[in-house]
Amino acid sequence: MPSLADKKIVVGITGGIAAYKSAELVRRLMDHGAGVQVVMTDAAKAFITPLTLQALSGRPVRDTLLDSSAESGMGHIEIARWADHLVVAPASADFIARLASGMASDLLATVCLATSAPIILAPAMNQGMWRKSATQRNIATLMADGITIVGPASGEQACGDVGPGRMLEPSEIISHLTRTGNNHSLDGASVTITAGPTWEALDPVRALSNHSSGKMGYAVAIAAAAAGAAVTLISGPTALNPPPGIQYRPVQSAEEMLAAVEQDIDTCNVFIGVAAVADYRPLRSETSKIKKHSDSVTLELVRTPDILARVAQHTKRPFTVGFAAETDRAIPNAREKLHNKGLDLIAVNQVDETNNPFGSEENHLILISKTDEIDLGRDSKTVLAEKLISEIAHRYHDEYSA
Ligand code: CTP
Repeated sequence: MPSLADKKIVVGITGGIAAYKSAELVRRLMDHGAGVQVVMTDAAKAFITPLTLQALSGRPVRDTLLDSSAESGMGHIEIARWADHLVVAPASADFIARLASGMASDLLATVCLATSAPIILAPAMNQGMWRKSATQRNIATLMADGITIVGPASGEQACGDVGPGRMLEPSEIISHLTRTGNNHSLDGASVTITAGPTWEALDPVRALSNHSSGKMGYAVAIAAAAAGAAVTLISGPTALNPPPGIQYRPVQSAEEMLAAVEQDIDTCNVFIGVAAVADYRPLRSETSKIKKHSDSVTLELVRTPDILARVAQHTKRPFTVGFAAETDRAIPNAREKLHNKGLDLIAVNQVDETNNPFGSEENHLILISKTDEIDLGRDSKTVLAEKLISEIAHRYHDEYSA
């Protein structure tokens, strides 16, 4: 595991019962040899005292934005510049909302806004608050802004509810921290990723599409960039913002997606097809809105190009990775796709009543190659994307050094 020794880490603590775990997080970071500056919100101080965290970190806790004595020493911009990493644990729904809207209403939010260090948030809240669409929208915004979200875990909550919203354990947060910013596994590699659905026009106002939100593909793009790759993200229509530091090419149809991929096919080292490409498009796309003149209509559909297969069969092919969403016989079907399309790897997710990744923050992925099969487990799309990129990186290097 890469070392945290001598790393300067700002631990942000917001209001929530999980704040008691922050003390252990600080203690463990100190055990790793990191320097820790704790920044607390007012609500956090209702759950744990600054004195405890000062004793554990060996530094006075900072909690006030406009504190004249502190600002003359280490002011909020200095804290933002000092940090190699920023971890907010627990991150409450309120703090997540403030960060997603770019507010600088207290010291912690201001430091997060001012820093160029990687930020990790470990959300903790009631399961209903976590599931609420406002929170999910804010999380999607933060992910698209390049912030890493770890957890929350599911289980029994302090309020008696059962569901997602428990803060990850300090040891799990530290393991994410050691991966972020310490990972150079794809340094120098150029990676092209497709994401989101495609939109196959029927007329100027209607189209055939699917439920893909693009979250998995965007998380893979962010993880590849964090691993040092030069990333191009070719995305169908989604509600997500283009991640920073990534070359972004928006497209609509499968034909347009193929044309965008073909621009990179000779130069990219790794291709990852995460997009849920429509398999069929209307034979004709009308130039005027189709009017409802009769009780039924028959659409004639034709196949779209298989972008992934085209890449895999290209003479100068990149290391090629596909995705498969399957409702039946997930593993055998994915194996068939691996073989028929000529892929190096395929990540398969079973779609059923216990796992419907479309639009969700979580997924369960199994990775299949010609020689092995690895269960990446059920986790947030951010964590799965990091695990996937780490597997791709070592297999890609093995292939090239062979
Ligand atoms: N894919 C693609 N172009 C298409 C269809 C799929 O690039 N026209 C890619 C997807 O991005 C994904 C993989 O192929 O990486 C598998 O997609 P999936 O829809 O699961 O499989 P299909 O090949 O379309 O087969 P089927 O729909 O019959 O399961």
